[in-house]
Amino acid sequence: MATNRLKAEHRRPAGSHKIAQREGARAIRLIPGNSNNGNRESTKRPMTVLDFQKMKDEGRKISMITCYDYSSARAVDRSSVDCILVGDSLAMTMHGFPNTLSATTEMMAMHTAAVARGAPSKFIVGDMPFLSYRKGLKEAMDCVHELMSAGAHSIKLEGVRGHGDIVRHIVDSGVPVMGHLGLTPQSVNQLGGMKVQAKTDAAAGLLASQAHELEDAGCFALVLECVPAEAARKVTEQLKIPTIGIGAGPGVSGQVLVYQDLLGLNPGFKPKFLRTYASAFEIIHAALDTYDDDVKAGKFPAESESYG
Ligand code: KIV
Repeated sequence: MATNRLKAEHRRPAGSHKIAQREGARAIRLIPGNSNNGNRESTKRPMTVLDFQKMKDEGRKISMITCYDYSSARAVDRSSVDCILVGDSLAMTMHGFPNTLSATTEMMAMHTAAVARGAPSKFIVGDMPFLSYRKGLKEAMDCVHELMSAGAHSIKLEGVRGHGDIVRHIVDSGVPVMGHLGLTPQSVNQLGGMKVQAKTDAAAGLLASQAHELEDAGCFALVLECVPAEAARKVTEQLKIPTIGIGAGPGVSGQVLVYQDLLGLNPGFKPKFLRTYASAFEIIHAALDTYDDDVKAGKFPAESESYG
């Protein structure tokens, strides 16, 4: 018997089947700025790249969360979190791969489109997957096009070596680019594991010069992943554009966490930087056991849950 029985009502609101029909009929593709998709839960508009800069300039912190699917996006859309990253971490969280190398453009575009349908009031960053921007400009732009057509407002790519020109070209094409330095998980094999980066003075200096390079190439913001707090603070002070940290301490312009990690859906994963805000895995587990108990005991469905 599950000890923690949940008494939540699961009644559909009147007319919800009609809403579902309308949702099903909606176009799969969604171009931002043209997103009159009839699914707005909030009248807020997505923030823009100008808001990112304004928030840094005014010393206001930016909150970002990864998100990969429609139902999670609806929850994020209702929240006050500023913006969404459809990260290539979805290869791990949604598809069970051991790292992010298995994410493809097709996967990224499909998840971005689902998130865009669920979170019309949020600014969405779509992640460029492994090697998608290292095979040449055309391939890179094809991927950018896929993600933007799927509903992203900007794209993110990892590292800097040798692709300043690609960043410039994407930016010159009218697509905002978010950089990503420090631990860049797509280089896990070269880095020898998921390790904290920029630990020496020399490595911190290199991080700072790469950050400047990305700012000069036109990035509107920069993710700093798993770097010592002091190095991240210095980079943030030196740059004009905002930095978004994950495992980069408090001295950055904002924070990003993976949705599943923040909600405690990934119980074995407890890196030093992570704060879990819920025990969602346990809650879901208890609900499923309670449902199973009710079915087996003939308690579900009740008469009130049955058609007359
Ligand atoms: O893919 C991802 O989730 C990311 C964040 C960890 C920044 O790149």
